[in-house]
This record gives sequence, C-alpha cells and structure tokens, in this order.
Amino acid sequence: MLDFNTDLYHFGLSQIPDQTIIANEETFGAHHYERIGVVIRQAQNCWLTDVNGKQYLDCLAAYSAANPGHHHPKIVSALTNALTGNYGSVISNVVYTDPLGVFLRKMAEFVPQLGPRFGENGNKVLPKNGGVESVETAIKMARYYGWKNKGIPDGKQEIIVFDNNFHGRMITVVSFSSTPKYRNGFGPLTPGFVSVPYNDLEQVKKAITPNTCGILVEPMQGEGGMRVPDDGFLKGLRYLADEHDLLLLFDEIQVGLGRSGKMFCFEHEDVVPDGLILGKALSGGLVPLSVFITSRELMDMAFNIGSDGSTFGGYPLACVAGIAALDVLKEEYLPERSAEQGRKLMDKLQDIAARSSHVKEVRGRGLFVGIEVKAGNAMTFCRQLLSLGVLANDSHGHTIRISPPLTITDEEMDYMVTRLDRVLTDA
Ligand SMILES: Cc1ncc(COP(=O)(O)O)c(C=O)c1O
Repeated sequence: MLDFNTDLYHFGLSQIPDQTIIANEETFGAHHYERIGVVIRQAQNCWLTDVNGKQYLDCLAAYSAANPGHHHPKIVSALTNALTGNYGSVISNVVYTDPLGVFLRKMAEFVPQLGPRFGENGNKVLPKNGGVESVETAIKMARYYGWKNKGIPDGKQEIIVFDNNFHGRMITVVSFSSTPKYRNGFGPLTPGFVSVPYNDLEQVKKAITPNTCGILVEPMQGEGGMRVPDDGFLKGLRYLADEHDLLLLFDEIQVGLGRSGKMFCFEHEDVVPDGLILGKALSGGLVPLSVFITSRELMDMAFNIGSDGSTFGGYPLACVAGIAALDVLKEEYLPERSAEQGRKLMDKLQDIAARSSHVKEVRGRGLFVGIEVKAGNAMTFCRQLLSLGVLANDSHGHTIRISPPLTITDEEMDYMVTRLDRVLTDA
C-alpha cells in the first residue's frame, strides 16, 4: 500500500502495484479513454518503461505532444531552472513577466506572416493551455470578424468545418463533430457550423452563404483516420476564403511543429492561413501549452482588454518550456528528420502492405503515418504490437496510427517495422 508520507512525491518506478493503479483509476476516475492495459512508469526519448523494466517503443508520442522525445534534457533543464529559481509559478495576470514576453515574441516570429492580406506587420499570439481552448479562440475571432468587418448579424455567423474533424472535447467543438459519441446527450449544442466532406472543394463552395465568416480545417486529419488531402485542397480553400472574404483557420495541433516533415503542415502546399492553432508539442509534451496566432491586425481587431484571457494561459512555466521546445525543433532539425525517417518508414510499410492480406492502404506524410486495415479492427493489431514491445493505437477504428517521437533512430525504426511485419503478415 502507498505510504502517503514517504512515497507520494516519488513516483516513476514506485512500489504501488499496477493493479492498484488501475483500480484507483477505475474507481475514482471518469470513463473517458479506453486504456490498452499497460501501466507506464517512466518515459525517456522514444521509450516507455513499465514496473518490471520492460520497454515499449512509443509509436504514438501522445498524439504528437512528445515530438522532441520524452523528457528532452534541454526542456527539462529549462523547467527545472524555472522551478528552483522561483520564476515558474503562475503570477497574477495584472503584471508582466519576462518568460511570457520572450515566448510571445519568439512564437510570433517563428511563424511566417499570417493573414498577409490584412497587413504585413508581423503576428500576434494568444496563449492558452489545452489545445481545444485555442481552437475556441480561433472560432471567437472568426465570428467577431464576421460581425465587425462583414456586417453579419451577431448570432448568425457560420463557420465551415469538415466531416470527421477532431478539434477537442468542449461543448462548442463537439457541437460540430460528426462522431455521435462525442456529442450525443450533451446538448444544447452550439449552432453556427456547417460540416462538409473533407477534401471536397465543391461542397465547400456550395456551403458558403452571406453569413459565412470562416473555414476551420485540419491540414491533415489525425483522429479522422490519418487523412492527407489531395494536392490543391488547401490552395483551393485559400482561394475560396479570399474570394468570399472568409478567415481561413488551420488547426495544426497534431500535425504542426515538424510532425509532417515540414515545420508547418501548410508548407506542403505553400498556403498561408489567416490563423494558426498549435498545441501539444509546443512545450515538448511537458506542460499544457497551446496558442492561437494571427496577424497583428486581426488579433487587435478581435480582442480587447477583457474580451479574452486564462489564469494559466502563458504562465511562466509553460512559457519557458515553449521557448526551449521551439529551440529544440530548430536546433535538432526535427522537421527534416521527420521527413527523412518518414520516407524510409513509408518504403518499409509499402513493402509490408504488398505482402499483407490485412492492409488496405498506407498513407501519411513525414512521421505521421496511418496503416488502414481491411477488417476495420486496427486495435486488434495494436494489442498484438503492445505484447511485442510497441505502443501504437488506432485512429477512427480502422487505421493503425504510427507517430513516434521525431527523434526515432534507424535501429528503433527497424525494431518497429520488424514487429509490424510480424503482426500484419503473420511472418
Ligand atoms: C487536431 C486537434 N485539434 C485539437 C485537439 C484538442 O487538443 P487538447 O486535447 O489538447 O484539447 C486535438 C487533440 O488530439 C487535435 O488532434
């Protein structure tokens, strides 16, 4: 049994038995995620360790949050310094702090000029915690723009979204989810969204009305089955947004920051959005941090003193993690590594697919790869992979999601591929 006096702050390989940990969660926690049945005690770079010291190659990376690898030493050191130096704690938002100012500047300059049709005076950043909060910030801005600049009556603004989208779990974003279990029973739902098929520009065109103020899209869909749109889709959205004076908002929470083999997914089509949402890997997976970024003009148009805010949004500890994580992405060439390792992985997976009776399709970009299985039972394969020392999970039921930390080595990829080969080809 846990001795609360001596053990509470010494987790990792603690003495608490796995069964107690599982029982604690089941008894005292809400049923939200389906667990895969393993208790992880420690995480280091691409590897996860259980209580017996058994290691699992992390091919999920917390849905892209651990892009630089778990406990990256540079980010850990930034956080440790902040805590031991007494500048990590949340400070009341009525005062300035140096980590926030430095982070905002770094973040604003990290991204190319967004929404250039509104001006070329740089970007502004609004920091939050979990990703869904920044999605809502983007929605607020698009609605405000529709009201203030387009003259749409307040309450009538519409935003175009896409079937099988995933933008988080709060009321407004589940209101336009096409997955019934995310939505059912949680009404009244938030109106003002029109959902059309992903990758279908004709349907977007048809959905535009005089009340449309924006388009919110994932440049690649993660939870929606690891979907890469056809070349030209993002460009087409840009064209429609310009033609109809709509704000084009990209949710790159899962696919940005190197995951797709470019720093930002929009670089694959050379399309610049008006607003960009980032989260997950922004702190290297160590503390919650998300941002909404847009042009100076749009941010100043939409938000005034008192119209937005968050107690922990942009607090010092998150900011120092963000500053270090942005440095790591560049210093370690993580987007380039993702592109290179992703190419190698794709070749190996196509070879497996050609020999497998289970694989329907392999798709992806960089180290964001989906293996769709014919019987639609991706989790069956993920459970077999777990027993072989690989953590992966499904996307949309039918697709095995492979998204390891971007630091994965050739040897680690061989380890993963050997095991995928075994479960997918019965080799
Ligand atoms: C594309 C996308 N948007 C938003 C979210 C929500 O982020 P969070 O869970 O941090 O609120 C996610 C989470 O998986 C996501 O993948």
